[in-house]
Amino acid sequence: MAENVRTDVAAGPASAGAAPADGTPPPAARRRPGRGSVTLLVVLLLAVVAGAGAATIHARQSPAAGPPSGPPWTPTASPSTGPTPTGTGLRSLAPANLRIGSAVEMKLLDADPRFRDTFTTNFNALTAENAMKWRNLEPTRGGYNWAPSDQLVEFGQAHGQAVYGHTLVWHTAVPSWIDESWDTETIRDLLRNHVSTVVGRYRGKVWAWDVVNEVLDEQGGLRDTIWLRKLGPGYIADAFRWAHEADPNARLFINEYGTEGRTRKADGLFRLVRELRAVGVPVHGVGFQSHLRWDRTPDDTTGNLRRFADLGVSVAITEMDVRITLQVTTEKLQRQERLYRHMLRACLTVPTCESFTVWGFSDATSWINTTYPDHGAACVFDADLEPKPAYDALVETLRERRGRVDVPSPGSG
Ligand code: XIL
Repeated sequence: MAENVRTDVAAGPASAGAAPADGTPPPAARRRPGRGSVTLLVVLLLAVVAGAGAATIHARQSPAAGPPSGPPWTPTASPSTGPTPTGTGLRSLAPANLRIGSAVEMKLLDADPRFRDTFTTNFNALTAENAMKWRNLEPTRGGYNWAPSDQLVEFGQAHGQAVYGHTLVWHTAVPSWIDESWDTETIRDLLRNHVSTVVGRYRGKVWAWDVVNEVLDEQGGLRDTIWLRKLGPGYIADAFRWAHEADPNARLFINEYGTEGRTRKADGLFRLVRELRAVGVPVHGVGFQSHLRWDRTPDDTTGNLRRFADLGVSVAITEMDVRITLQVTTEKLQRQERLYRHMLRACLTVPTCESFTVWGFSDATSWINTTYPDHGAACVFDADLEPKPAYDALVETLRERRGRVDVPSPGSG
């Protein structure tokens, strides 16, 4: 892997656990226990990993040199086939090459018809907020729980919504039955089997996958996870290759947070993607989660997205929300509105931005409420499902775009 990335891998443990670049404490799900006692061991281990050098990022299978294979994505290549609601929802305003999505849980769609209508009227893509995470799909070894995820895929197909698969490899969603003391080959086989099984099951039904999620630390080096510790940096390339084998038509993304603007972490992501592409790993896109806070604007988002696009990958806003410190005020809602506008504009400015996805759309059910103490109101609809200024900003921004360029008729996707 590239010289800089390798250096950062070795530097990873010293910086791991730091607050995200936006200065807020990481959510509980991202905290790692007992780091102090294992730091020395990890440093030594990673020094070995780093010393393994350039070959390790694409270890195991020797890739063909040159750009990765995989078809360019077009809206017509999407597996979604169901009816498309017309009307004035966000999806009706989206250009043909852009999906507007939201993360969602099946139980919320089942529970509330108004929630369901708001969802289908506004979004032509869906991401499983939790149903496709490994821990939830396979709670016991070999004991799969496919129902919630199957139902979401069927829901998407029935409502003309492309399904975005989230996520195959994520350190916080590792099933509890996996034991890190197992030998490397066992762990590798488990990961390979997981990727192949899940992608294979939804072959032709899931248009894009977050193959790896949050693999970087705050300094832009590789995050210290079970996968890095057991398999070395090559696990990333391997996961992409396994996913590509299982569904050659799926768009394969690397997804990250804190990389929307020009941060050190974004630089690390850039180097990693460049290196993976250079050795032919089938990375087709980069997802920018965009969990923002109301009082910070990412630096040069458009320029940052562009530099990734210039590597030949698509980009996507994959998990946007804007959390507000309580109490909510008019000023904070205005700042929130500006941030939603800022991110959608950046996405619309970069021609290969394939989707703009929010991480939930209702303030009543957003993960922010339970994950960030004293924060809330992060979505574009309020807790009564009434549109907020941020929603109006998305509508306006999509309309501006329609005024400027020739796009197909509403409801085209
Ligand atoms: C979150 C879900 O929203 C929560 O319901 C769950 O408890 C934890 O995970 N980055 C990601 C998402 O990639 O998978 C996370 O989703 C939010 C942060």
